Amino acid sequence: MKKVDNQALVIFGASGDLTYRKLIPSVFDLYINDSLPEGYAILGVGRTNFSDKDFRIKMKQGIVEFSNLKGIDSKQIDDFISKLFYVSIDTKKSDDYSLVKARLKELNTKFNLNNNYIFYLSTPPELYSIIPKYLYGQGLTLQHKGFRRIIIEKPFGNSLKSAQELNKQLLDFFEEDQIYRIDHYLGKETVQNLMVTRFSNGIFEPLWNRNYIQHVEISAVESIGVEGRGGYYENAGVMRDMIQNHLLQVASLVAMEPPAKANAEEIRHEKLKVFRSLRPLSKDDLRSNVIRGQYTESHVKGELVKGYRDEDGVAKDSRTETYFAMKFFIDNWRWSGVPFYIRSGKRLPTRVSEIVIHFKPSPAQLFKSIDGAVEQGNQLILRIQPDEGILLKTGLKVPGNGYEVKSVNVDFHYSDLKDHYIPEAYERLILDCMIGDNTLYMSGEGAELTWEFMQPILDYWENDPDAPLYGYPAGSWGPDNADELIESANKTWRYPCKNLSDDGLYCEL
Ligand code: BG6
Repeated sequence: MKKVDNQALVIFGASGDLTYRKLIPSVFDLYINDSLPEGYAILGVGRTNFSDKDFRIKMKQGIVEFSNLKGIDSKQIDDFISKLFYVSIDTKKSDDYSLVKARLKELNTKFNLNNNYIFYLSTPPELYSIIPKYLYGQGLTLQHKGFRRIIIEKPFGNSLKSAQELNKQLLDFFEEDQIYRIDHYLGKETVQNLMVTRFSNGIFEPLWNRNYIQHVEISAVESIGVEGRGGYYENAGVMRDMIQNHLLQVASLVAMEPPAKANAEEIRHEKLKVFRSLRPLSKDDLRSNVIRGQYTESHVKGELVKGYRDEDGVAKDSRTETYFAMKFFIDNWRWSGVPFYIRSGKRLPTRVSEIVIHFKPSPAQLFKSIDGAVEQGNQLILRIQPDEGILLKTGLKVPGNGYEVKSVNVDFHYSDLKDHYIPEAYERLILDCMIGDNTLYMSGEGAELTWEFMQPILDYWENDPDAPLYGYPAGSWGPDNADELIESANKTWRYPCKNLSDDGLYCEL
């Protein structure tokens, strides 16, 4: 690993939820794992009128509740939070940024930071274009003495146009290689393992194409609802919240060609080629291959769960989608004719994210399946979470007379790696930015291409009053129409259980 230089992390939106739950606990975990440099400081910036002490007290609670590590003692947390500072400003006033500059100057001298600063924007998106400008106004974006990097939280735009504008605005004040557009799915260990599974094993890659793969399924389903984020969600919906970013990023790792080298430039290049090959959605695709739904009130495990329209901050006649499924194609040599199905939704029966590679059935069916069902073909399941692991479903002879076939599991679970620490996504991503490695961050062009692909869906929903929105009871697997999207003689969604290798009758949700 590259050496981590002395530096400061400046968090805008420091009194917010993300800082409390994810950012500070992740940097603390880096501290305990000896990944922080000798000279380090964190400067929180926000509107809330905190002193350094108030900020430290609040962040200590966040660490206790959300650190990924077990058995931490209070003394370790106290040592860490002594490096936390806070400055209160009105982020919309350019003059206030001189306070940030002055505080950084002081910390720079005190901790020998070599003028290296990362600015993390964890604020409402409308500030993404303002903060860079005012930082620039104070000369804080220029890399004369140390490095200056900026991390932009999601959402990166809410349409193609806004993403293009945001890229343009950022590039007025930062160079592309200073900009780190975060997508926390890319920081997940299991998502990174996708490339390793594909490109470090000789057995998968020869099969990883249209000749052997029937279809690909990518799901990120959640049992929670909008959890008090109704106001945000109303203007987002699951398509903007999960599909355009997280799941298309995952799809690009499933579909990309092997990069020439395992570095940021080559990997990003291969991902871009996938985005450029996405088949644009036709009018027919929009009507038949894109399904949206919204959860309605229902009983889940004996409890009454309210419908989306009854959530706080949600309009009574809301048409925001909480479920989304679609079928699409990647028009290149490898994937020609192979459908990709992706889906995501809130208030589904369980929380699971996984990729299922469905291989074509064997060309001649010599043996009968034990239950008389049509042969399904092997499935390779790459489980992102929970019960992270890999599962291969393969046919086995049922012992005894005859040749009946039964599907069995060959599985690996990360939990079996007893002595391996699996970093939290934010921990990995923040460390990468500290080192200056943007492999796991989105490129500006990548963000625009994924928006370009999804924009016709937004236009269709906005302009066509007949574009359907299906209700589905909270706790169910979404609207029936989504099943019709995929179903045929030997195709159906996989209905995953919490545990990777549980199937059929024995399924904990
Ligand atoms: C976030 C979305 O980006 O990802 C949330 O805004 C969603 O709505 C979350 O719940 C899911 O992330 P994870 O890591 O729990 O799968």
